[in-house]
Amino acid sequence: MLAGKTILLIIGGGIAAYKSLDLIRRLQERGARVVPVLTRAGAEFVTPLAVSALAGGKCHTELFNLTDEAEMGHIQLSRAADLVVVAPATADLMAKLAAGLAPDLASTLLLATDKRVLIAPAMNVRMWQHPATQRNLVQLRADGVAVVGPNEGDMACGEFGPGRMAEPLEIAAAISAAMGDGPLVGRHVLVTSGPTLEPIDPVRYIANRSSGAQGAALAAALADLGARVTFVTGPASVPPPAGVEVMRVETAREMLAAVEAALPADAAVFAAAVADWRVANASDRKFKKDATGTAPKLEFAENPDILARISQMKKGRPALVVGFAAETDNVLEHASAKRVRKGCDWIVANDVSPATGIMGGVENMVTVIDAEGSESWPRMGKPEVARRLAARVAAALAR
Ligand code: CTP
Repeated sequence: MLAGKTILLIIGGGIAAYKSLDLIRRLQERGARVVPVLTRAGAEFVTPLAVSALAGGKCHTELFNLTDEAEMGHIQLSRAADLVVVAPATADLMAKLAAGLAPDLASTLLLATDKRVLIAPAMNVRMWQHPATQRNLVQLRADGVAVVGPNEGDMACGEFGPGRMAEPLEIAAAISAAMGDGPLVGRHVLVTSGPTLEPIDPVRYIANRSSGAQGAALAAALADLGARVTFVTGPASVPPPAGVEVMRVETAREMLAAVEAALPADAAVFAAAVADWRVANASDRKFKKDATGTAPKLEFAENPDILARISQMKKGRPALVVGFAAETDNVLEHASAKRVRKGCDWIVANDVSPATGIMGGVENMVTVIDAEGSESWPRMGKPEVARRLAARVAAALAR
């Protein structure tokens, strides 16, 4: 996806610098050449040797390096790149870039470049929230700098809040998007994900074990290929990926409404684990125990089948509709029947028996079934399944 592109990666001084080593790998996997620059502070966290070994080339560190400067190294470096990425972008680097200061190699490159710049900020939550940093952020955005993250979460300094650098996969997705690259540029893809919650009363609900990991990875992989992604998600335990439009829902009926509102789409992938039934006699008051010890009797009503509805649309149906089939027995047989019954183009079948550890786990093993037949993939990480599926979607839409 980034084949033949050169990315100048400036690694600033922050504990998140270790994630930039992984970022180098992720970018190379996508076909990019990474030219690394390590700031003096960055070199306190990761070594030039580790960086150059991973990048497979020189790690640039000094502004006044005689051999490089004989060839006007800093101008060359920033001109030869297709995109300049700063990860981690410290408060100090952001301030220098916003003010146009150039006391070292990294800041000089940022000033000398005529290419797009993408920053992945990482810093302590108070530094991030400081009015000076927020002012610089506004200025950088106004200057056309793309920004990915920071995310919220536990920080290395023991505090909690926004300031964690975006994950390498999120940064890679933002890089693809910033380059306007990929086979799905100009396409709109809808993804449903996570469980749905069906209320019993104001404090209780029925849910399921879906973590939303596969759906989130899929949305990220599709965005990675340049798609505009609408991500309709139930309350999942993994956060939605960066760079997608998120619609949060709780019940199956809310999910259907969000999906209908998000159409039209070129493709729709239904990875959500939707509750088949809702509680028909849900109460708006908490059910209380009574003196006789009688348990409340729940009645169920069937939820709309979102996948079937969209697959069977007469007008405005997405060109490609993909369903998932989570089964515990006779997986292929049940999944093939489900594809025909619901009317979707492909069904991605997986075995979610507890012994497989797939539901809520990090790996998946799927068989993709379409009208022509079926294709079984070996067991692999959910992000890898997502990338293969996204590539298959891109190939189908290109036909
Ligand atoms: N699905 C949906 N809306 C529903 C139920 C399921 O959109 N109300 C979608 C899921 O997102 C998934 C596919 O249908 O893509 C299959 O879901 P699954 O729960 O396996 O199918 P069911 O129709 O519930 O079949 P069964 O419970 O009989 O296995």
